[in-house]
Order: sequence, then structure tokens, then C-alpha cells
Amino acid sequence: MYHMRSIKIKPIKKLSGNLRLAGDKSISHRAVMIGAIAEGVTRVKNILDCDDCNYTIEAFRRMGVSIRNVKNETIITGSGLKGLKKPSVAKIFVGNSGTTMRILAGILAGQDFETSLEGDTSLSNRPMMRITEPLSQMGVDIRASTGGYPPLKIKGGLVNPIDYRMPIPSAQVKSAILFAGLYAKGTTSVEEAFKSRDHTERMLKLFGSKIKVDGLKISVEGGVELEGRSFDIPGDISSASFFMAGGVLLNDSKIRIERVSINPTRAGILKIMSGMGADIRIHNKADLFEPAGDVEVETSRTKGIVIGESEIPGIIDELPIIFVLAALSKGRTVIRGAEELRVKETDRINSMKANLEKMGADIEITKNEIVINGVKELKGSKNLRSFGDHRTCMAMTIAALAAKGESEIDDIDCVNKSFPEFFNYLKKLEG
Ligand code: S3P
Repeated sequence: MYHMRSIKIKPIKKLSGNLRLAGDKSISHRAVMIGAIAEGVTRVKNILDCDDCNYTIEAFRRMGVSIRNVKNETIITGSGLKGLKKPSVAKIFVGNSGTTMRILAGILAGQDFETSLEGDTSLSNRPMMRITEPLSQMGVDIRASTGGYPPLKIKGGLVNPIDYRMPIPSAQVKSAILFAGLYAKGTTSVEEAFKSRDHTERMLKLFGSKIKVDGLKISVEGGVELEGRSFDIPGDISSASFFMAGGVLLNDSKIRIERVSINPTRAGILKIMSGMGADIRIHNKADLFEPAGDVEVETSRTKGIVIGESEIPGIIDELPIIFVLAALSKGRTVIRGAEELRVKETDRINSMKANLEKMGADIEITKNEIVINGVKELKGSKNLRSFGDHRTCMAMTIAALAAKGESEIDDIDCVNKSFPEFFNYLKKLEG
């Protein structure tokens, strides 16, 4: 029988020390995907070993791509744009990985075979119309099941270019269209209302694609083969953000997370935390194909902040930990335009509100605003729930460490989705 592992958490005094984290999740997915459809060999250092990225790796192995770990490198022997093979299985299972399902759909759009992509129960309830619509407009035969949910059936082949204005801000949707655009006859363009993470654009450029970024509009030319590359992935800022928040909230703390991604389209958390008054500094900046730096934080008194819609894509995965910071900051935090949180691994507006209220937080949700009034302290609760969502689980772990009294969180294995080492690193920082 499946046994859900829970964890008891006692408050701690401080977090201190240095850490170096495994590679960014979004960049790791893209490294595998682009390496797999490039020509020649791609060598990647510091790829993230987590459930989601392993589903991406497995999917390409099933389509004939050799992906091997040799010493500290992942070596991908690319098949070229159209060289993937029809998988031997009827359906490729991608677990809980929305990124794998949505972005891979763009690549499958260009392959001359039919494939199905299937997810676990939680992923089977996440919206896919956001990709089936633009890909259908490109002439791809792609079908979701009733209501626009997984599984997806994709019969690739001919792809027409489009000019697409994105109705929702989503790097996954943008990436699916850009990947499909690699197979189109002509130039495909995507325009966003607000800038979302630009890892796909940066990496396609690195691999020699003809891609142009003009403000919020990105254009890619179809039919241009990509060339394998070697690179090193900076640490995951989303994973780092839990420790950063812990370092700020707990007394006498000082932590440094080395060589982490500080890509401005992704690392909005740095600006938000500074805006809240956190003592946060970046050292050793390096501008590789993705900017990286060492992030240092110290215990700080934080205050509430107003976060507008345009800032949401840059902090979309960090909002659960921002809830925690806001709950313990002085004054009021207002977050606008964060409805996308409702369609993540769980409804993160509900999951965070329900949990934090059990600890005494003051949170109000209106149609398009989240209002968090800071309280002096949170109290431990024995009924905290992860809802099977890795980021809810990690954010609540930090809340519990900073609370008064013991807490318990159910079902913690979900952290394996993005950060299997989370609890080990936490122990290290606890000293
Ligand atoms: C991701 C984009 C975001 C994010 C997800 C990873 C990506 O999703 O929440 O964890 O790698 O492109 P959306 O693009 O759907 O907002």
C-alpha cells in the first residue's frame, strides 16, 4: 500500500551556511529537449536530477535519443530536428510534469508520427487548451480529451507559421509554439503581454537557431537545424527562494547560495524580497548564456509590498513562499493578477491560504487580489497539507520553521518533483 510520508517540524533558531544547488528545472528540461533535436552531441553539467526532468529524459529515450550520465556530465546525442523515432509504447507517461507535456507537444508537432502524452491524476486536471489552440492554428492535428485536459494525442507533420498573441502569460505555451515554429515553413512569432521566463529563447540562440527577440515579440525561423553545445546550468532560483526566505525570517541567519540563476525574467523574487526590505546581495555575477550569481541573505525585518500583474510571470513559482514572507512582514501585501496560481500542481491560492490560516495568518482573497496582512507570529499547526504540491510543501516547511510550536505536514514526497535534496539541504543549513 502507498504510504504517505509526513514530517514533524520544530521551530529552529537560524539557518546559516553556504550551498550550491543543482541546475535550474526549466533550463534542465530545455537542455534535454533542445539537445535531443539538435545535430551532434550536447554535454550538460549540473542538470537537475528530479522526477519532472527525468520524465523529459525518459520521453526522449523512448524516441530513440541516447542520453547518458558520464561522470558529472549528461551527454545527449541529438537526432536532428526530424530524427526522433516513433516510441514503442502507445502513450508516453510524463508523471506530474506539466512542463514536459506542454513543451514536448511543440516538438512532437513537427515529427512524422502519432504519439500520446499522458500524465498522473493531478496533471490530468490541468488545462491543455492553451497549447492545443495555437498548435491547431498551426495546422497540427492535436487533440486533448473532453474539456481540454490530458491525455494529448498529437499527429505531427506539416506545420504552418503563425503570429500569435498570447492570451495568458505562460513560458510553457510560448515555448511550445517556438518549438513548433522550428518545423514551420517560414517565420513564427509569439507576442506576450508581460515577459515570461526566456530560457527557451536564450537556449535556441545558443544552439544556432534563427531567433529574434524584439521586446515582447519573439520570432523564429523554421527549417534551421540546431547544433549540439556544451554548457553548465546555474542553480535553481525557485529552490533557492525557500532558503532565502528562511534566512530572512529566522533570527541570526546568514546564508549564501552560490552560482544560482539570476535571469531577470525568472528571478523576480530578488526584486520582491529587496522591495520588502530583505537584506539580500548578489556577488560574483557571471553572464553565461544564462546570468548567474551568488545570492547572500541575512535576517531582516520585512514589510508588505504591492505586486502588480506585470510582475507575476517573473515570480509565478515563488508566490507560495512570498505568501509566507508576507504573512510575517509588517503591514499589508497586495498581489494582483495571480489567477494562474489556481491551475498549478494544486490551486496554490487555496492551498497557501488554508495552511497559513491554520497558523493564524490573515489572508483575504477577492476576485483579482490577494491581500495578506502581516501578523507578529505564526503558530505551529499539526494539520498542514502539501496537497501533493512540492512548492506548497516547501513553503509550509519554512513557515513551520519560523513559527511558534510544533507543526506537521502531510505527504512530503512531492518535493521530489523539483527538489529531492530539499530536506537534506535544510538540515545542513540548520547546522
Ligand atoms: C515553466 C513555466 C511556468 C512555471 C513552471 C515551469 C517553464 O509555467 O510555473 O514551473 O519551465 O516554462 P507557465 O508557463 O504555465 O506559467
